[in-house]
Amino acid sequence: MKRRARGRAPRGAPPAGRVAGKLWGGRFTERADPSAERFTGSLAFDRRLWAQDIAGSVAWAKALARAGLLTAAEHDAIARGLAGVRAELESGTFLFRPELEDIHTNVERRLQELCGEVGGKLHTGRSRNDQVAVDERLYLKDVLARLGDGLRHVQEALLARAAETVDAPMPGYTHLQRAQPVVLAHHLLAYVFMLQRDRERFRDAGARADVLPLGAAALAGTPFPIDREALARDLGFAAVSPNSLDAVSDRDYVLEFLAAAAITGMHLSRLAADLTLWATAEFGFVEFADAFATGSSIMPQKKNPDVAELIRGKSGRLYGNLVAVLTALKGLPLAYNSDMQEDKEPLFDSVDTLEAIVAVLPPMLASLTFRVDRMRRAAGEDFATATDLADYLVRKGLPFRQAHALVGRIVRHALDESKTLEDLTLAELRRFSPLIDGDVKDAITVEASLRARAVTGGTAPAAVRRALQLARALVARA
Ligand code: ARG
Repeated sequence: MKRRARGRAPRGAPPAGRVAGKLWGGRFTERADPSAERFTGSLAFDRRLWAQDIAGSVAWAKALARAGLLTAAEHDAIARGLAGVRAELESGTFLFRPELEDIHTNVERRLQELCGEVGGKLHTGRSRNDQVAVDERLYLKDVLARLGDGLRHVQEALLARAAETVDAPMPGYTHLQRAQPVVLAHHLLAYVFMLQRDRERFRDAGARADVLPLGAAALAGTPFPIDREALARDLGFAAVSPNSLDAVSDRDYVLEFLAAAAITGMHLSRLAADLTLWATAEFGFVEFADAFATGSSIMPQKKNPDVAELIRGKSGRLYGNLVAVLTALKGLPLAYNSDMQEDKEPLFDSVDTLEAIVAVLPPMLASLTFRVDRMRRAAGEDFATATDLADYLVRKGLPFRQAHALVGRIVRHALDESKTLEDLTLAELRRFSPLIDGDVKDAITVEASLRARAVTGGTAPAAVRRALQLARALVARA
């Protein structure tokens, strides 16, 4: 009953609307419940988009003027007003009002306060639906370029360490069992090439984000003669969206970034896991600088590789953010739905997470001490060159399968005798095959094993030097 009574509208309500403060005041007679207002508001997180929101509005005002919807004087008043709002935001004096729901409304309301009634013309032919999409795309284009640079810094840090370790043998692993010798630079360069693909993904995502949605309005397209091509040029977009429904429903650009970020996080988690493992007493291949490690509150002797562990751990939230947005978008009917507002916190979280990682990784990598002596020793243990012995027999004409079986028997024999491959005398070896000659000893050293793998992409120091050159060229390319 009470509701009904309040619902009865007085005639001739002022155009600003009866429910003060809201963009939709005209239609509404009841105030928002505070819990609903808190629940639907996005200002707490979308305020990050203020610079993009103002840039979009500046360009939109210009487009309205070009279309004859604003006089030159009106356009100038709005442009001045927007500059004023920007100045307040830049100087930190802008008063954010959460009751005004989002950044779009906050900016528009302040504009109206600064330039009066004419400010109310800015939203002509535009909707927050195309507005938020343009804000996000502008934001992402920026972020993708910045994070691409951040990843390049990680690559450069890896390249510097690789340059020092082209001749540093270490065990290579499969199944986390010692497998064949590699050089440390080869291992480090693997990550450089992974990150190169990540940067390419960021670049590709940037190209697809580079499409202007503004002009789609709420869903059906703006009814005014807006020159969208000129608008795209003003905002620095390469193209114009060809379908208004798609333009306001599409969040692929968010997803592509989140997917690329998740894959990058996965790569960096593997690098972090390698370093964490190598820093154990059991491996002892690397030592973290004190500046990039922490101690224990109870065990005085501890030095923990927290930075690496957290890089490994943060891949979890990068995956989670991707799945959160994919799930929020799944099955949404066209066109805009409020569910889509849920894209922002995961997006910003992945941006912040990756930015933090690419800030800490380069100095952390630079400060590592590689225990190349321990790596070198480990590289020659556990029959690491058994494959090279089989390859030696292949060069003497034995089919590989037979060579494999024969070396397997030699390894078995050495294990039974508690000997290494090098411990076995030539006479002992010849008991297994008369193809084995005096030149065998030189064929199964760690250095010979490495040298043999001179194929493109192999671990021979000569090949790694070439890969290093290639990697440097790729990394330096924009
Ligand atoms: N805060 C909204 C978002 O992030 C902006 C678009 C709102 N549009 C609307 N009709 N409620 O998606």
